[in-house]
Amino acid sequence: MANESSVPVPKSATQLAKMRIAGRLAASVLEMIAEHVRPGVSTGALDRQCHDYIVEHDAVPAALGYRGFPRSICASVNQVVCHGIPSEQRRLRVGDILNLDVAVIKEGYYGDTSCMFMVGKVSPHARRLSRVTQECLYRAIEQVRPGVRLGDLGNLIQRHASDNHYSVVREYCGHGIGENFHEEPHVLHYGQAGTGLVLEEGLTFTIEPMINLGGREVKLDRRDGWTVETVDGRLSAQWEHTLAVTSDGCEVLTARRDEPFFQTTV
Ligand code: MF3
Ligand code: CO
Ligand code: CO
Repeated sequence: MANESSVPVPKSATQLAKMRIAGRLAASVLEMIAEHVRPGVSTGALDRQCHDYIVEHDAVPAALGYRGFPRSICASVNQVVCHGIPSEQRRLRVGDILNLDVAVIKEGYYGDTSCMFMVGKVSPHARRLSRVTQECLYRAIEQVRPGVRLGDLGNLIQRHASDNHYSVVREYCGHGIGENFHEEPHVLHYGQAGTGLVLEEGLTFTIEPMINLGGREVKLDRRDGWTVETVDGRLSAQWEHTLAVTSDGCEVLTARRDEPFFQTTV
């Protein structure tokens, strides 16, 4: 039975094998789309390419129809924090920063990952925000192993953001994942070291920090019910991976080929 209880249950070896396949597919969507992200391309066109790629690989775009979400991926540009709806009207311009968030369902299992793209020449402060946000994710990943607590991860992310004079979005968090898109536990990107769930082997969850250049406050666009933007209109960045806790660390199920922790496991 699908686990929707409040206590996260470690995955079996069989379940982990399926999550590896789903994770690799989600990662490959981002690898595929990278070369298509350029000035003049609409986020709607990127969505259609991702949709077609996912379907051609015998999988389902997890976002499509999720609580009524109208497209297959999220495309969040500049001050959009998350859940941006791809649009044929929104063409990318030189200097934009873009997060594409891809989640797939493959043989009943979910994989969920996102990364930032720079459109043409991007200002140094925007590139720096993206880099530091990726460092927040990578530093948290490096800490994951049995015995570590979720508050340790949140605290680390929050400290790296604030050391760089950035703020952490609190309204959205990482999540357990498996046969459901969003399961327990909630993975906060802020918190106190030594608190929260104690990680154990076999747990699978995402870490997906959203970091703002200015204040942490966000607002939901009431017209479309989805787009989340910074209140001050300043830039926001996000990076996301799906992980599995192993006996001595973690496996990054959505690692892309250009990342340090990529392993040829599938
Ligand atoms: N992929 C997002 C996450 O990281 C969820 C998107 S829900 C959607 O959890 F409906 F906006 F697609
Ligand atoms: Co996601
Ligand atoms: Co997620």
